[in-house]
Amino acid sequence: MADALPDAAAIEADDLKYVMRPWTHPKGEPVIIAKAKGCTVTDVNGKEYLDLTAGYFVNNAGHCHPKIAEAASKQVHEVLQVSGKHGSVPMVKLAKKLIQLAPKSVAKAFFSTGGSEANEFALKMARQYTKKSDIAYLENGYHGLTLGSLEVTASEKYRESAGKPLGTDNYAIPTAYCYRCKYGPHTTCTAQCLDSLPGKLDARPKTAAIIAEIVQAVGGLAPPQQWWDRVDKERKQRGILLIADEIQTGLGRTGKMFAVEHYGLEPEIMTGGKGLCGGVGSLGLSAANDEISKAFFGGTTPTNGGNAVSCAGGLAMLEIISEEKLIENAAKMGRYFTEAAWDLKDPWIGDVRFTGLLGGIELVKNRESKEILGKTEMAAIKDALHDAGMLITISGLHGNVLRLQPPLVVTSAQIDQFLAALRKVLNSVRGSG
Ligand SMILES: Cc1ncc(COP(=O)(O)O)c(C=O)c1O
Repeated sequence: MADALPDAAAIEADDLKYVMRPWTHPKGEPVIIAKAKGCTVTDVNGKEYLDLTAGYFVNNAGHCHPKIAEAASKQVHEVLQVSGKHGSVPMVKLAKKLIQLAPKSVAKAFFSTGGSEANEFALKMARQYTKKSDIAYLENGYHGLTLGSLEVTASEKYRESAGKPLGTDNYAIPTAYCYRCKYGPHTTCTAQCLDSLPGKLDARPKTAAIIAEIVQAVGGLAPPQQWWDRVDKERKQRGILLIADEIQTGLGRTGKMFAVEHYGLEPEIMTGGKGLCGGVGSLGLSAANDEISKAFFGGTTPTNGGNAVSCAGGLAMLEIISEEKLIENAAKMGRYFTEAAWDLKDPWIGDVRFTGLLGGIELVKNRESKEILGKTEMAAIKDALHDAGMLITISGLHGNVLRLQPPLVVTSAQIDQFLAALRKVLNSVRGSG
């Protein structure tokens, strides 16, 4: 444990007094972080944590990578912000780089200030181009907490936060949750869960687009190829656009630069955020094909969209991803995590699912019946992992998934360190039950 900051207690007291935090917190949180490096963060009391959240899935290249720090420091002395309407050298360079890396179906980048905003612009683009109003979204999908992105977010818990009825222009379509497949068990999946899809789309002829996380971050749900093939076919037959939300899945997280590459999908619109700025400030990306880009009128520009320092951070991040082969490492470490987690042979581990380093471990009371592990046990596990210096989040449709998404620089030794702590914690919570 490193030394505490001299004013740690005062900082924590001020946090309590002055910072609004409209969420419930597990024990020990929020953690006020004083220093961060690679996969490790240190709080104001000097306690170190292995960060399996990558700062909420932002720091793909690890915390405070020297190359990002250097690029941002240099840019600070050149241009800071010039409004979304004008531009800066790093902004143009980042647009070019992203379009070169993105699927060929998108041709131009529009920058805003974060993920939710990027999705709002994507929805506007789809509506303006198609002149249609409705948007389909996947059950379980998450697209942000601003009002527009909430309209296409499935979770009732999040939707309730709008405090008003949400519009009726948008509607949910089925998602793939293979571990709990309603049509299984089967040896070959025929994507039966999509049987209702054609009817749903036909009933809504004003559908402009389907917005989807290609691999759903809530518990790491990766549909099989045939599932995406079927969605893609149905939507193309009806001239419905695909908006790929790559805010969490993008930039190497799933073991490809973008998750659409796993399935050969060609979205007409793609959004990005989170790590796009390398952790320097914040950026949102709404990329679209040429026709949609031409039809798009913003009305006005996001004031801080495409901040020059954030773009410099993002460019450095993309260089690191390539130089340090982080996409390859994400794929390799995802496989390692999967095998090592199953090797624990813990009776509560029901499913382990990683696509690269996007994933998690689903905990169940009973492997046969797949009975969900209860809230009390989940809270005890989260608290004990926290005490052991493991920063994670709990996720999943039923709140029983340990969401594990470390920076892409994570090593097998760090994964072993986490799993050794998990083994102890699961045994001790089970023993005390
Ligand atoms: C898939 C996805 N879309 C959109 C968002 C919203 O991004 P932000 O919180 O930067 O507004 C998130 C954030 O968690 C996300 O995971």
